[in-house]
Amino acid sequence: MTFNNRVAVVTGASGYIGGEIVRQFLRAGVAVAMTDIVPDGMNRLREELAAEGLTNVRAYQHDVTSGEQTRQVFAQILQDFGHLDILVNNAGVWEHRDVPGQQRLEEMAVPEWERIIAISLNGTIHCMQAALPHMIQAHYGRIINLGSIAGNCGLPGYADYSAAKAGVIMLTKVTAMENGTRNITVNVVSPGMIHRTPAANSGTWLGRNGSAHDVARCVLFLADDEAGYITGMDLPVDGGRTLGPHNANMKD
Ligand SMILES: NC(=O)c1ccc[n+]([C@@H]2O[C@H](COP(=O)([O-])OP(=O)(O)OC[C@H]3O[C@@H](n4cnc5c(N)ncnc54)[C@H](O)[C@@H]3O)[C@@H](O)[C@H]2O)c1
Repeated sequence: MTFNNRVAVVTGASGYIGGEIVRQFLRAGVAVAMTDIVPDGMNRLREELAAEGLTNVRAYQHDVTSGEQTRQVFAQILQDFGHLDILVNNAGVWEHRDVPGQQRLEEMAVPEWERIIAISLNGTIHCMQAALPHMIQAHYGRIINLGSIAGNCGLPGYADYSAAKAGVIMLTKVTAMENGTRNITVNVVSPGMIHRTPAANSGTWLGRNGSAHDVARCVLFLADDEAGYITGMDLPVDGGRTLGPHNANMKD
């Protein structure tokens, strides 16, 4: 991959997928500004990365739901690194609901709705608004937003999450249209079932669930200097799950 002296911002960096995106960028020679609402996880990650000799990284406490805080954090990142070339909007929350499909829309509390939208959708907007002016000035940018296959297919019991991710996908397409001639690409990576613990009964055509590594490598692909002719796309990283229901009659 080609990364010519690039700086990446990764939000939600202390989470499972965010941490692996940070690690893969550092291994590829990209300097990383990692942000998260929880600083402890970033401190632990920084120690793990340092043990691997990966030190070109700084951590920033950052709540993506606040537009004002986002502007301040991005201003600090620009001051510390001098430029900002890649933005990965990864912060998002998935809360496992005990009885899948039971939290229907009419039962969903308004504050819960608002929180999910505030983090996944508004947070992505805040970070893009903070990063775009610098990318426009530099006539270079790679933005990768974390969507979800729920944003394409929908998931009963998770109308809030599905709607937030559908919003992220359309936000990406429109921003890609608006910024194409500025040499800024904007794409979505939409994970399916991604877990720390491998499971074979994932309902995918690959017969396993995915790992953070599977997602991070696709993010890096879209962030590459040489991925400049791909924009507005939604890349599912789901083991083929969205191809259609897995056929139980398949023997292997
Ligand atoms: N794991 C999956 O199966 C899966 C599937 C589809 C999509 N995704 C998406 O991938 C992304 C990463 O998921 P993950 O599984 O690594 O989740 P995770 O819970 O491990 O990590 C999410 C991170 O976001 C941070 N965060 C939460 N609220 C925040 C806020 N207000 N401001 C800043 N940071 C905040 C958390 O502290 C956490 O570190 C999310 O956007 C998620 O919706 C994950």
